[in-house]
Amino acid sequence: MTVKDQQNWNQRYLAGEFGFREPDPFVMEAHENYLQPLLREGLAPDARSGLDLAGGAGHHAVWLVQQGWRMVLADWSEAALAIAREKAAALPANNTLETVQGAALDVLTRFQEQERRFGFVLVSFFLDRAVLPLLPRVLASGGLLLYRTYTVDNERLGNPRGPRNPEYLLRSQELLEVYRDMKILHYNETVANKGVAELIAQRIGS
Ligand SMILES: C[S@@+](CC[C@H](N)C(=O)[O-])C[C@H]1O[C@@H](n2cnc3c(N)ncnc32)[C@H](O)[C@@H]1O
Repeated sequence: MTVKDQQNWNQRYLAGEFGFREPDPFVMEAHENYLQPLLREGLAPDARSGLDLAGGAGHHAVWLVQQGWRMVLADWSEAALAIAREKAAALPANNTLETVQGAALDVLTRFQEQERRFGFVLVSFFLDRAVLPLLPRVLASGGLLLYRTYTVDNERLGNPRGPRNPEYLLRSQELLEVYRDMKILHYNETVANKGVAELIAQRIGS
């Protein structure tokens, strides 16, 4: 990923390419089935927060704030974060969205150094392989990783959307391999007309 990629993303957001969007059903279902129970179980106060990494203009993060989570939205596009802050400004005062601008790897490295932990981390349609091993390290014990992005099968299955560069495409079962030390709660590779892997995994141990 280069500075040019970052500028491209900024331009796409400034051009209004990503207007108001509902959260993906994956996120809403994951919230109902896995995140809400976690909140009900009484997470430690510092774990009642979530990180939406490369979360763009915040269509998930703002919704998750509305569901009762303190959210950190991180993205390298300042234009995307500005849109998210605008949306969050309409929320009641005690609903907090923190925005962090920076490359995902830098943001995670910093959080890890600060020993900052989250009840869950969401990564939706973003892949930087250097980031993958760092994700469990910013999860509180028992915290959840929600990951969803395109796989190498996407183009073959006829989906016109999504990247073509294999650097940004998961291999089949790749998330299962990378997160083999976590408890896998849900895994699916959609094969109808798009290649998308989705994983929900829980950090075990302290
Ligand atoms: C396809 S969008 C997905 C946005 C959001 N997660 C969603 O599901 O709608 C990819 C996002 O990743 C961000 N991005 C790409 N590379 C990044 C990097 N290395 N560090 C941080 N953000 C990055 C882009 O700015 C963009 O907002």
